[in-house]
This record gives sequence, C-alpha cells and structure tokens, in this order.
Amino acid sequence: MIFKKSILNNNLLLFACTLFFVVVILYFEIRVLNLEGTNDKLVSEVAIVRKQILVNNEASIPSPIIGGGAGGGALVEVPNVNLRDRKDLVVIYNRVPKTGSTSFINVAYDLCRLNSYHVLHINVTGNMHVLSLANQARFAFNVSKWDSIKPALYHGHIAYVDFDKFGVNLKPVWINLIRRPLDRLVSYYYFLRYGDDFRPYLVRRKHGDKVTFDECVEKKQPDCHPDNMWLQVPFFCGHSALCWEPGNKWALEEAKRNLISHYLLVGVTEEMEEFIRLLEVTLPSFFQGASKHYLSSKKSHLRRTVQKADPSPSTIKKIQDSKVWQMEQELYDFALAQFHFMRKRTLGLSASNKTSQFTTERSQQFMYEKIRPK
Ligand SMILES: *[C@@H]1O[C@H](CO)[C@@H](O)[C@H](O)[C@H]1NC(C)=O
Ligand SMILES: *[C@@H]1O[C@H](CO)[C@@H](O)[C@H](O)[C@H]1NC(C)=O
Ligand SMILES: *[C@@H]1O[C@H](CO)[C@@H](O)[C@H](O)[C@H]1NC(C)=O
Repeated sequence: MIFKKSILNNNLLLFACTLFFVVVILYFEIRVLNLEGTNDKLVSEVAIVRKQILVNNEASIPSPIIGGGAGGGALVEVPNVNLRDRKDLVVIYNRVPKTGSTSFINVAYDLCRLNSYHVLHINVTGNMHVLSLANQARFAFNVSKWDSIKPALYHGHIAYVDFDKFGVNLKPVWINLIRRPLDRLVSYYYFLRYGDDFRPYLVRRKHGDKVTFDECVEKKQPDCHPDNMWLQVPFFCGHSALCWEPGNKWALEEAKRNLISHYLLVGVTEEMEEFIRLLEVTLPSFFQGASKHYLSSKKSHLRRTVQKADPSPSTIKKIQDSKVWQMEQELYDFALAQFHFMRKRTLGLSASNKTSQFTTERSQQFMYEKIRPK
C-alpha cells in the first residue's frame, strides 16, 4: 500500500514537473513569436526608410543583408557582389571605332585604381578586327588563365570571340556601345581627314583631303561607299566568314543573337550617360562612382572629330537606299530597343528632378524567405 502510494506521488510529481516545463516553454515560445513580429516590423520599416533615402538621394545605396539571415518569414535582401568575391571577373569591351568609345574607356581608366581592377588595351596589329584562329586561341587561353591581372577590363577593336570554342573555363562579360551607322561613317570620314582633339598632333591617313562627305557621295568615291558602314554587324557577329560579307542576312541574325545571349549590356553612343549608369548599378565592383565621375569630367573626356559638316538630305537619301545601311540600322534599332527595355526595368525617374531621367536605381525586386533548415 505504502509502496503504491509512493508511485502515485512520484507520478504526480512527474506530471507537475512536465506541466511546469510546458508552461515555461510556451511562455518563451510566445516571447520569441513577439520578437519575430518586432523583427519583421523592423525589417519592413528599414525597407521603407531605405526607399525614402534612395528617392531623396537619387543614388544607390549598397544593400546590406537585413533580417539576420535565415529569418522566420522575414524577407532577406541580397547584397551586391563586391570585387573580393569576383576575383575571376573579366569584362571585354570590343569597341567599334568612332562610337564614343574613348570617352567611355577613360572613365574606366580613371576608376580602376580606386575600384581595384586592371584595364588593358588590346592592340591588334594593323588595325585588323579579325584574329587568326591560333591568335584567338592564344587570346582566350591567356585571358582565362592570367589570374594575377584579374579582375580585368579588356578593350580593343576586335570582333566578338567565342571563348567556348577554345575549351577554356572563363566566360567573359561582354559589353559594347553602338552608334547610328550613318553618323559613325560621317564621323570616321572626317576623322581620317582632320583627326580629333584627342591626339591633334597625329597626321591621319587622308590628311589634306578637302573633299566633303557630300562631294564624296556625289563622285561615288570609295571612302563613303555604304559598304564602309558594315562594321557594327560584323563586330557583334564575330569571326565567321559570312560576318564580313557586306549585306549578309545570316550575319545580321547572328549579330542579334550574340548581342542578346553573350552581351551583358549594349548601350548607344547617343545615350552614354544612361549606359554608364546602368553599368554602375549592374557591375558596381567595376563602375561604382562612374556616373558622377563621367558627369563631372564630361568636357575633358569628350573626343570630337574636328571639322564635321552634316550630310545633305540628298546624300542621306542615297545612303539610306543602300542595303548595308538598312541592315546596319536594323541592328542599331534592335540594340536600342533592348537597351531601352533594360533601362526601363532597371532605372527609375528621379523624384526631385523630373527633367533628368533615369538616374535612380529601382529598389531590389527580389528577396529570399522561408530559408530552411534553420
Ligand atoms: C599599337 O601598337 C603600335 C606599334 O607599337 C603603335 O604604333 C600604335 O600606336 C598602337 N595603337 C594604339 C591605338 O595605341
Ligand atoms: C598572358 O600574357 C601576358 C602578356 O604577355 C603575360 O605576362 C602573362 O603571363 C600571360 N598569362 C598567362 C597565364 O599565360
Ligand atoms: C534637373 O537636371 C537637369 C539636367 O541634369 C539640370 O539642368 C536642372 O538644372 C535640374 N533641375 C533641378 C530643379 O534640379
């Protein structure tokens, strides 16, 4: 009897203890839930404040991780990748002559020390735009294996090189700028005759030739032949034979395909500021501070061809009747539409100045949540 009673007492004690612990656990559970609620509130509060700061400052602010990682129901922002995490990053800018590329690349040269990456010019012998197969292989191999120079931005007047072909591991990020084909031709025409204010001492190939572009078209001279415009298509098309055949339909299609699938961003000369701004928010490790720098040093960076006369309407009409102009223009329009699409998705209008468009980075459009196991 005594023995039984003690078991009963023990059971009662056990029950009491369990009850006590359940109550304690429940209490803490509620506390944690409350804390999480507070945390969620804080996170959304911070997001609102960040948004306001963004709108007010018209500038991007690096996104820190908020919400403390594997939060219960909290949204987790994803930070910008900094260069320490992208030591292997290689950007290639295969610049087309006379597209304003010097103004752009000067910004990269000015920023490279501050943002700690290298800039290299690819000097191709004899101003050729196509490399031999052996040279392409050497280039692809060197760029992918040369670790001590990374992260790096290469620039030069070469057609697109398909790195995949050479069995290398690196996939470079390609960028480019393109310009209205007739403007580019006229600019190049006068550049050969009068040079520019960048290296005024240099005597150019056609120095002393006073024939205007209109007269050249009138006399059907080779320098203003529409085939000279066939350059932006082959630069995007690459190293295949058909790419360099003026007016080739496959080349145009290939150029469009490469532009979409292998280029991170292709801007237009006419909208350089926005091109730089887009790069700044997309690849901040390279281009942080680029917009501000470009705007503040705009004058010193502008490279102008000297003595440029606009072509007459009849000259324009003649050029526009050519198949090569039409196809080059089609690529330009294609690139422009893509550029505007990306711009609209990426940049917002600044709130304080409605006239200066597309300067503010849109706030982050994706976040993580429900990260398990905790
Ligand atoms: C490329 O190298 C050649 C030979 O050294 C030199 O004459 C030329 O000026 C260089 N090109 C550029 C654009 O610097
Ligand atoms: C790539 O070429 C540069 C210049 O010649 C050279 O200094 C470097 O060692 C090369 N890198 C590799 C990995 O071959
Ligand atoms: C808005 O921006 C434009 C171009 O950047 C500038 O000229 C103008 O002064 C600015 N207006 C105001 C009110 O800040």
